[in-house]
Amino acid sequence: MGSQSLVADIGPENYRFLQEHIYAQVGIVLDDTKQYLFQSRLAPIVKQLSLGSVNELCAFLHAKYDPAIGQQVVEAMTTNETYFFRDPAHYEAIRTTLLPRLKEERRETRKMRFWSAAASTGQEAYSLAMLLLEEGFKDWNIDIFGTDFSSKVLERARTATYQQIEVNRGLPAAILIKYFRRAGLEWQLNEAARRMARFETLDLRKSMRTLGPFDLVFCRNVMIYFDNETKRKIMKELHSTLFRGGWLLLGGAETAFGLDDLFERTTVGNVTVYVAR
Ligand SMILES: C[S@@+](CC[C@H](N)C(=O)[O-])C[C@H]1O[C@@H](n2cnc3c(N)ncnc32)[C@H](O)[C@@H]1O
Repeated sequence: MGSQSLVADIGPENYRFLQEHIYAQVGIVLDDTKQYLFQSRLAPIVKQLSLGSVNELCAFLHAKYDPAIGQQVVEAMTTNETYFFRDPAHYEAIRTTLLPRLKEERRETRKMRFWSAAASTGQEAYSLAMLLLEEGFKDWNIDIFGTDFSSKVLERARTATYQQIEVNRGLPAAILIKYFRRAGLEWQLNEAARRMARFETLDLRKSMRTLGPFDLVFCRNVMIYFDNETKRKIMKELHSTLFRGGWLLLGGAETAFGLDDLFERTTVGNVTVYVAR
């Protein structure tokens, strides 16, 4: 048998079916080089249904489409990787530049609104909550809205409970001790930080015009999965949710697509900030 794979290749028609299904459901483009990714991520669903291969899973979905299994396939194929204080320079830019400005501008209302637009399991939203507590905004009216396509990751975000390996990523020890308590083998975020954030499912391709206005929108490490048309459409919608002067922060590999009429691109420290016009 040598080095030959034991797993049957996904046939071209089935491969196309999976690509189209995922694109239709969530907008993610998976190119023709993802055999291994499909195989490894769909294996648990194949097993759960007592099937023999991804080809059989496709036949199963063709025979009688089951939306719950369809959703499971999509969720298995989305990347949910996240961690606390990811891109620390973003939080530093918020701390040194955005928060002092808002503190001054909002001294009457003491109100601020933030959005983590691809929140995954909540680390982005809660990092911001802890930053705001550290910076003395405890008594302010803070709303951190976290959304994601996947209800599965948001269920975890709502528990605000993380495994050791997750708190080891990005969270300084002093902050861990200050804001978390041990809950069995896991760590639970304290109530003060938790109640600043709320989570709801939302597909970024849907209209967002009623969600804002926000002072800051994180939309990080999700645009890379979309095609150009989807990206442009989402950027326009994101703009509509921001206060004029509000900040949009994208992931390291993402850009605002030359939408210069909507956003002014500035640099804070070494961070690119898209400021809503
Ligand atoms: C890699 S995570 C990024 C998490 C976080 N923003 C960060 O940078 O650490 C990408 C998230 O985007 C979500 N996602 C993918 N497509 C989406 C869509 N069409 N609408 C909303 N969320 C989507 C996925 O479910 C996943 O949780």
